Amino acid sequence: MYKILHKEKLNDVVELMVVHAPHVSRKCEPGQFIILRVGEDGERIPLTIADYDREKETITIIYQIVGYSTKALALLNEGDDITDFVGPLGEPTKLHASKHVVGVAGGVGSAPLYPQLRALAQMGVDVDVIIGGREAQYVLWADEFRKFCKNIYITTDDGSLGQKGFVTQVLADLIDQGESIDEVIAIGPVPMMKAVVGVTKPHNIKTSVSLNPIMIDGTGMCGCCRVTVDGKIKFACVDGPDFDGLQVDFDELMARQRMFKEEEHQMDEQANR
Ligand code: FES
Repeated sequence: MYKILHKEKLNDVVELMVVHAPHVSRKCEPGQFIILRVGEDGERIPLTIADYDREKETITIIYQIVGYSTKALALLNEGDDITDFVGPLGEPTKLHASKHVVGVAGGVGSAPLYPQLRALAQMGVDVDVIIGGREAQYVLWADEFRKFCKNIYITTDDGSLGQKGFVTQVLADLIDQGESIDEVIAIGPVPMMKAVVGVTKPHNIKTSVSLNPIMIDGTGMCGCCRVTVDGKIKFACVDGPDFDGLQVDFDELMARQRMFKEEEHQMDEQANR
């Protein structure tokens, strides 16, 4: 059992939990994820590790309450236990000692992006971040990024914070202004990551994305998290979750995600009856 030491509401649909998980905190690296389960019959929920503290033996997770399983997670409170908390899973991010990296986060994408950018800043890389959200409350962890990022840009769809518009516009402007960017790391909703690649590809800027397709076992056995990268089949749970964004088949990924939406909706309806 894994005790919830701290729980915090970040906005009306996103929450943060700090969980006591000694074996995960000892070994995890930026980019890796865990799979948790609430209750013996609970569905497995993959979540990228947002932060870790090896001394306190804790893992920080940030999750969006989107369906049946994350609603069950959100019902737990400080002092409660999470039934399963397996990890670290996946390949750690390959961090390159370049000169200038721009991170792009959409919504809860701030969570997995945070440890990656912080590690790069600690290596001496100049790090900028562009954070986007529908409105001000959905712009996550701006103050945390401010601690180590050289420049921070914020966009909201409604203009309630930062520049009105999308993260891709800021990125395109930076490129147009002649900023020399060695790598872009984009993490957020699949359409956002696809749009970022649409901006970087014509300039051949190395672009890393973190994919979170449906996962079941997290060990490469079930085939559920299949993605196509550079024309080859990959499994996000063991080959990723980070991939070369310039090579990802985003259209196929979005089609696979849509397949599971209806089932999630049906489970939600049953639970609410
Ligand atoms: Fe089953 Fe990746 S989750 S193969």
